[in-house]
Amino acid sequence: MKKILPLNHGLRGTIKIPGDKSISHRSVILSSLGTTPVEIENFLAGADCLSTVACMKALGATIERDDEKLLVTGNGLHGLREPENVLDAGNSGTTLRLLMGLCAPQKFLTTFTGDDSLRKRPMARVIKPLTQMNARIFGRNENKNLPITILPPEKNLRGIFYKMPVASAQVKSAILLAGLFAETPTTVIENVPSRNHTEKMLAEFGARLENRANALRIFPAENLTAPEKIFVPGDISSAAYWIVLATILKDSDVTIENVGINKTRTGLIDVLQQMGASIELLNERTSGGEKFADVHVVSSGLYGVEFGGKIIPRLIDEIPALAVAAAFALGTTIIRDVGELRVKESDRLAAIVEEFNKISPDTFTATEDSLIINGGQEKIFAECKTRADHRMAMSLAIFGAAAQGVTLDDETCVDISYPNFFEELS
Ligand code: S3P
Repeated sequence: MKKILPLNHGLRGTIKIPGDKSISHRSVILSSLGTTPVEIENFLAGADCLSTVACMKALGATIERDDEKLLVTGNGLHGLREPENVLDAGNSGTTLRLLMGLCAPQKFLTTFTGDDSLRKRPMARVIKPLTQMNARIFGRNENKNLPITILPPEKNLRGIFYKMPVASAQVKSAILLAGLFAETPTTVIENVPSRNHTEKMLAEFGARLENRANALRIFPAENLTAPEKIFVPGDISSAAYWIVLATILKDSDVTIENVGINKTRTGLIDVLQQMGASIELLNERTSGGEKFADVHVVSSGLYGVEFGGKIIPRLIDEIPALAVAAAFALGTTIIRDVGELRVKESDRLAAIVEEFNKISPDTFTATEDSLIINGGQEKIFAECKTRADHRMAMSLAIFGAAAQGVTLDDETCVDISYPNFFEELS
């Protein structure tokens, strides 16, 4: 149990945030496919990325932690080893889906499992394209849930032309990783672009990729060339809590350092600016093809907005934090096309409606795939449930801090992406 007291003052000063979760996963996976050591700086040592580390070790990579750095050495693109046990992806959809793509072409058997949340999440969306490539993947029931077993393919994998039915970087990445091992090139068509960290990092590792309009093509590879170092920028999804809190609390002036500002991830900043927030990006830099900057936020009054469509994948993980901002805005905010929130670590649309309304009654309603927030209602002290969902826990914490306080039944889930979140908050 965790009690968060109301903050009666603004946030002031400078904050460093943990490394980006998506980029951390990819840095371990790709470094494990090279042959030379890679030093990963600012790696996020949260539970999700540690699940990826454990799985890659089980697949034969050598991985050590040295202070803030992770040292990874692989056995080459075609050098993965048969794991001796079931691979446990824990709570991490990214670990599971990316590694399904990597293991599908291998000449050994792999079985995956995960925690209570991951065992309920949809996996058919990855199994379908991989099966078209000749992979042999079996899930538990007609929904193809975990546990999932991958058998060695009977024929070599073949490249496919795949039009993505849902915008998902995890599915796209699984196809791209499998495509490295296919006999012919593989093309993924994305009408709604999702985060592009996998293709950016694959290019840094020397993989051959072509990107034309919305078609991304990957060519089979003999090997990858690992860089000596990878710098992981700060996670904009973790910065989101401070960006929102500093905006809604009076007298705030905060700078968040080294935040990743890849265009496929910055939807939160665009929407908050449209709502009236004062957010500037300072000192922009690039490392390993990824842009990052210091984000400067000053308190501002907000207005409700309406949005949906192509911007959604650019802020999908930030919707709970954005919903908190909208509760303090003048007027109504309507967020469309967010049905994917129902299949995240929890059903986040249901969680927002049931838990956030305890803090700000009569504020949040949802349809099957949209969220409506009636801003400016009275806020009260509340006892809330995190549903073992890290992003719900952190959003509830900032909501309570900006309102009349909150208790969280189980706060330990923040370990997934932001282990020292509560220390930073206090
Ligand atoms: C992620 C992709 C997104 C996102 C998740 C991380 C990734 O999921 O919500 O937190 O690292 O590729 P989907 O691929 O399901 O959209």
